[in-house]
Amino acid sequence: MKDTIEIKPNVHWIGSVDPELRIFDDLFPTERGTSYNSYLIRGKDKIAVIDTVKEKRSEEFLAKVKSLVGKEKVDYIIVNHAEPDHSGSLAAMLEQYPAATVVSTQAAKTFLGNLVHREFPSQVVKDGDTIDLGGARLRFIMAPYLHWPDTMFTLLEEEGILFTCDAFGTHYSGDSLFNDELHDFTPDMHFYFDCIVRPFKDKVISAINKIRNERIVIICPSHGPVIRSDPGRYVAFYEEWAKPVAGPKKVAILYLSPHGNTEKMARAVARGAALPGIEVGIYHINHLSVSEIRDHLEEADALIFGTPTINRDIPKPMWDVLAYLSTVKLKTNIGAAFGSYGWSGEACKMVEDRLKGLNFKLPVPFVRAPFNPRAEVLKQCEELGKAIADELVVNA
Ligand code: FEO
Repeated sequence: MKDTIEIKPNVHWIGSVDPELRIFDDLFPTERGTSYNSYLIRGKDKIAVIDTVKEKRSEEFLAKVKSLVGKEKVDYIIVNHAEPDHSGSLAAMLEQYPAATVVSTQAAKTFLGNLVHREFPSQVVKDGDTIDLGGARLRFIMAPYLHWPDTMFTLLEEEGILFTCDAFGTHYSGDSLFNDELHDFTPDMHFYFDCIVRPFKDKVISAINKIRNERIVIICPSHGPVIRSDPGRYVAFYEEWAKPVAGPKKVAILYLSPHGNTEKMARAVARGAALPGIEVGIYHINHLSVSEIRDHLEEADALIFGTPTINRDIPKPMWDVLAYLSTVKLKTNIGAAFGSYGWSGEACKMVEDRLKGLNFKLPVPFVRAPFNPRAEVLKQCEELGKAIADELVVNA
């Protein structure tokens, strides 16, 4: 997509596509590339650009702006979110249009100060503030944590077009910009949700509640397809993916066990935790997908990690699970560790240190034992499980 694309006569896509990209932000795999979407809105009196694109693509981006603006000026640059994939070409835009007013939340303004290192005309907006471009009124809707604390949506009221930046986005670069001309990209959108906003599920629900009664005809996110067909379906997806999980109190025991010894301990922990009203799940982590692991982390009311020690360390599959803890919306901060070891047994303390770093409470110290756990060790494991379950019963 080398050219601008008309969404409505007064609204154009002026973004940049990156179909070859396979890792986004050095973090997230993307099988179908991505796009950095930006939009230009022309009112009768004024022109606004919504978000920019990555810095490396500023030349292409500015050419698109110029092709629509000609000798006129850009009056507003709306920064819905300051992350560099959207603000990277802001400095170049300000070079070209130094009188343009940068419109953002206070948090985004602070972030931009540290990103572009220059003064610029600015206007900080709050929930419900508006800017009239002349027959085209922009209204700002605060949507913090979708994806950073700085984030807001911009609604073009007359057209019912909602510009959402990362929210409702997808790392996906297809043959068309529009959802009704593409194959189903819902799995890619769901994966993107998991990577970007899953840790902020409550904020997702808050944002949806704010837009629930708005007339939304088109959703224009800043990555992937523009949703001009059935936008409500995609809002419903977000609501479903973000909804809280209800049910009995759950203890999740996640373990690795190369020789079956840590597994014996895991089963003893599970026996101890099996109090009335408590559901105990016991999972060998290598038998779970990443998505299943994240679901268990998120749904548990207590998390117990069983790990062997290999080469004085936690084995990588368990490190990965511990890393996922900061990528989900945890409802618990109660945890514990146990494990078998051979030559040395550092891993259990490392698990505890990771949990403490995430502000977990550790009601009971770890239990570890060399090689094949003896009967007294299995008894300690049962006691560990019971202590964790007791904690849930007390706090029920
Ligand atoms: Fe696409 Fe949070 O930036």
